[in-house]
Amino acid sequence: MSDLSLPASIRKEWLDADRKLPALRVHNPHCSALFSLQGAQLLSFQPHGKAPLLWLSDQALYIPGKAIRGGIPLCFPWFGPHPEDARKPAHGFARQKEWQLLEASDTPEGSWLVFGLSDDAASRQLWPHAFAATLAFLLADTLTVTLGVRNTDSRDFHFGFALHSYFPTTDIRQTLVDGLEDCAFIDQLKGDALFPAESAAIRFSSETDRIYEGASGRYRIRDEAEQQGIVLNAPGCHSAIVWNPWAEKTARLADMSAQGWQQMLCVECGNTGRDGITLRPGEKREFSLQISDD
Ligand code: BG6
Repeated sequence: MSDLSLPASIRKEWLDADRKLPALRVHNPHCSALFSLQGAQLLSFQPHGKAPLLWLSDQALYIPGKAIRGGIPLCFPWFGPHPEDARKPAHGFARQKEWQLLEASDTPEGSWLVFGLSDDAASRQLWPHAFAATLAFLLADTLTVTLGVRNTDSRDFHFGFALHSYFPTTDIRQTLVDGLEDCAFIDQLKGDALFPAESAAIRFSSETDRIYEGASGRYRIRDEAEQQGIVLNAPGCHSAIVWNPWAEKTARLADMSAQGWQQMLCVECGNTGRDGITLRPGEKREFSLQISDD
């Protein structure tokens, strides 16, 4: 971890007994949170006096180079399997790399943390482009995360990404997602075909793995059992991925308990497929996601 001095609200710790995975614990007047430097991955976020807004598997594995099951891993520079080479890591490499802490400060609005990742020899083997990415977080009673990507190369590049957010719910069978009623989607369990919009809130009754296109970025997760909700707002993200592994797939995941699927869902904001982003040399784009309780 860099030796940047940390403000009063943030302290360093380790996620694993071998001290290979550095972490930052945040406790400020608004909320508490935990980050892994690997992936600049926010693992937990809880405004004081409220329920946690992110889900983290109780069986999560803390192994260097392995993405952690929960919080907000970043999929970058591609989402899902690599489009041409299935041997490359699913969801890109950003979630497996240790990011650098570039800024950490306490402000009246909340704690502000900025992490950075640039290309290196290993990343160029997987994706032959020079880039500088940042993930900036404002931790208040709401969470704001902003991905910045700059093309530091001498030619254009194209990328996809998703802020792969895991959310808690009381019972997935009594959970709805509003905001994607008008969007066509690819059902990843049925191939690449585009299905028409369903004109109804999403409900869950089996394994679900869909990529919605041309989405607004504004969604609400409704936990009917607790009569509470979580609101997402990501205006520049036109893809939304909705995922729940259900029982059978969960049984194949080493980092989830057998029943874990019942209390979680992913609603991921990004730009992938037809919504992917092309940057010219020197160009930079930013994409923000705000998460709050409702
Ligand atoms: C979702 C994908 O975003 O992530 C699913 O749509 C995938 O297909 C899931 O199974 C989890 O991926 P991983 O690589 O973290 O196990």
